[in-house]
Amino acid sequence: MSTLPKPDIRPANPYFSSGPCAKRPGWTPEALKDAALGRSHRAKIGKEKLGRAIELTRGVLQVPSDYRIGIVPASDTGAVEMALWSLLGERGVDMVAWESFGAGWVTDVLKQLKLADARRIEADYGQLPDLAQIDFDRDVVFTWNGTTSGVRVPNGDFIPADRKGLTICDATSAAFAQRLDFSKLDVVTFSWQKVLGGEAAHGILILSPRAVERLENYTPPWPLPKIFRLTKGGKLIEGIFKGETINSPSMLCVEDYLDALSWAQSVGGLEGLIARADANFAVIDRFVERSDWLAHLAQDPATRSNTSVCLSIVDETVARLDSDAKAAFAKGMVSRLDKEGVAYDIGHYRDAPPGLRIWAGATVETSDLEALMPWLDWAFQEQKAALESA
Ligand SMILES: Cc1ncc(COP(=O)(O)O)c(C=O)c1O
Repeated sequence: MSTLPKPDIRPANPYFSSGPCAKRPGWTPEALKDAALGRSHRAKIGKEKLGRAIELTRGVLQVPSDYRIGIVPASDTGAVEMALWSLLGERGVDMVAWESFGAGWVTDVLKQLKLADARRIEADYGQLPDLAQIDFDRDVVFTWNGTTSGVRVPNGDFIPADRKGLTICDATSAAFAQRLDFSKLDVVTFSWQKVLGGEAAHGILILSPRAVERLENYTPPWPLPKIFRLTKGGKLIEGIFKGETINSPSMLCVEDYLDALSWAQSVGGLEGLIARADANFAVIDRFVERSDWLAHLAQDPATRSNTSVCLSIVDETVARLDSDAKAAFAKGMVSRLDKEGVAYDIGHYRDAPPGLRIWAGATVETSDLEALMPWLDWAFQEQKAALESA
């Protein structure tokens, strides 16, 4: 098999990881110079910065004014766990999952919380489950954008406005790149390290008035560590949603998040961020449409993520390999691209089908994805030649 010459153009920025994601264009450590380091987060300066992070989140993400926004420990995982452990158990729950992170929440609810009345509504990588099976009189847990399969829900139309249960949504790889329908969501979580390219430290927990009502009227039968506690004496701890965090936050990470949010405003806020991710996805999509060896893992175009774009190698020779050899082929390509310094961290997630996963969120420049595409052909041809000569 013949190989291709190396493309002339290289991405100016080879950072395409699906988390932590690329810093915003132009970021340098200088962006952190005003961080309130060595100061108490409860001092006026610390509180002011935390409060601003919450208000800017509300503004950029267009969160309704009656929803609470809290900064919580342990990134998105922390925010989701707080919600699951604090809210579930009042009624049955439908656990909806179609990739590895969603599957992780299923495991938590079945094996750790051991909820007796929990139904699983699942699909394999590349598909969405049948959303019509969900009973919204029950609580529902789902991931808006499945980061490890690149499959997302197209919108919130499948959720009724007059539901009786709560919808708990892990939106970490969707927030700031996809329009979240807050009227259909009672809990929304994300971390700073995803679409805005912030630092991985803290999570954001957004609660609807109905979620707050549940918190104030239901006490789960299991113990809750301090780090998860959102109520005191049956009342919501309102301070958490004004920047009085449960435990000490990193003011360096807070400063970085503030920088990311002001960059987000500078590119046109939510609309601008979505447009950037859509344009990035379009570059990859056009390439895939023309390719005879690469395909989207997400089967239905309406469900294809504009952030974590997952791709399968469908070349006939590679498709015939067993799954270890397929994974080795994909890894070989990823490693060639890494060595060339044209793309870092674009391998499939460890539990996902072998292939490539390229982040297309707002902090990635469209021109860098355009420059990357010919390199994918190059790496494929190199890897295939190596396979055939082995
Ligand atoms: C859908 C989803 N949920 C949860 C997580 C975990 O996020 P974190 O490491 O920020 O807690 C990730 C990370 O990639 C994710 O993509």
